[in-house]
Amino acid sequence: MNRELSMEFVRITEAAAIACGRSVGRGDKNVADQLAVDAMRKMFDTVNISGTVVIGEGEMDEAPMLYIGENVGAGGPLVDIAVDPVEGTNLVAKGQPGAIAVIAIAPQGCLLHAPDMYMDKIAVGPRAKGCIDIDAPVKENLLCVARALDRHISDLTVVVLDRERHQGIIDEIRSAGARTQLITDGDVSPVVNAGIEGTGVHMYIGCGGAPEGVLAAAAIKCLGGDMQGRLCPEDEVQVKRCIEMGIADCNKVLTIEDMVMGDDCMFTATAITNCNLLTGLRYFGGGVRTHTISTRYKTGTVRFVDAIHSYERKDLAIKL
Ligand code: FBP
Repeated sequence: MNRELSMEFVRITEAAAIACGRSVGRGDKNVADQLAVDAMRKMFDTVNISGTVVIGEGEMDEAPMLYIGENVGAGGPLVDIAVDPVEGTNLVAKGQPGAIAVIAIAPQGCLLHAPDMYMDKIAVGPRAKGCIDIDAPVKENLLCVARALDRHISDLTVVVLDRERHQGIIDEIRSAGARTQLITDGDVSPVVNAGIEGTGVHMYIGCGGAPEGVLAAAAIKCLGGDMQGRLCPEDEVQVKRCIEMGIADCNKVLTIEDMVMGDDCMFTATAITNCNLLTGLRYFGGGVRTHTISTRYKTGTVRFVDAIHSYERKDLAIKL
């Protein structure tokens, strides 16, 4: 994929974030999502790609826009697209930190078509690459990461979604002597944080959405880190769904390469609310300021794009 596309993808997540920004803290996650979806969908059609949404807002009969299988773009290279116009809809509705608008793009056939179900995940940054094993006890993973980062296990911070299902993992982390950071929602952001030194996040572990897993895998691949996942179908219907989506063995440990194939992916996320690495939307008299991370596997460049958008000179699709 042409590197100039990375700036176009920044415009897409900026547009989604800006569009739903006014809904932050208004208590309605569906409105927030719809505003972001509309803006993202519209912006895709200005970009020179022939894209297929492989991870989107749902099936064709569930979602009017950005549904799985939908074609987007103005024509160009054939690409797979994973989108989450609002990753952390509850966070937006409640005005809490950690919400982002996010996309990942790779050449056609290179993104795992992850069904809408849970996935077990473990992710670390570049220096701890090769240290994780989703089947090993948490303590073993932590010891290996601590060694790789040349720090004591008690100086590791592990992000986990604050869910009852994670009590076992949380206990294991704590009894190993490491710290936990429990988050209420949004498990793509902590994987991005784990991929960048200095964020204070050294590992993400736990069970969250499989679509978010692929988005996170694209991010951590571009950042040079490591991740493993395993789908968690909860019943026969979900097993069937895996098979329909081309995943014959749904118990298989998924490596980054299984989730994001090849050497040509891009990942972009714009903060809606404040995140560890990114400042949330900031409004001022004449417009709004956005903060975006854009990264590309081929070169490993990580860009932070701090942009000021003018109400007067630009159609910002700001509603509410
Ligand atoms: P939405 O933005 O779709 O609400 O998802 C937020 C999220 O927290 C994801 O980041 C995470 O993977 C998943 O939900 C966790 O699911 P659950 O809330 O069922 O534990």
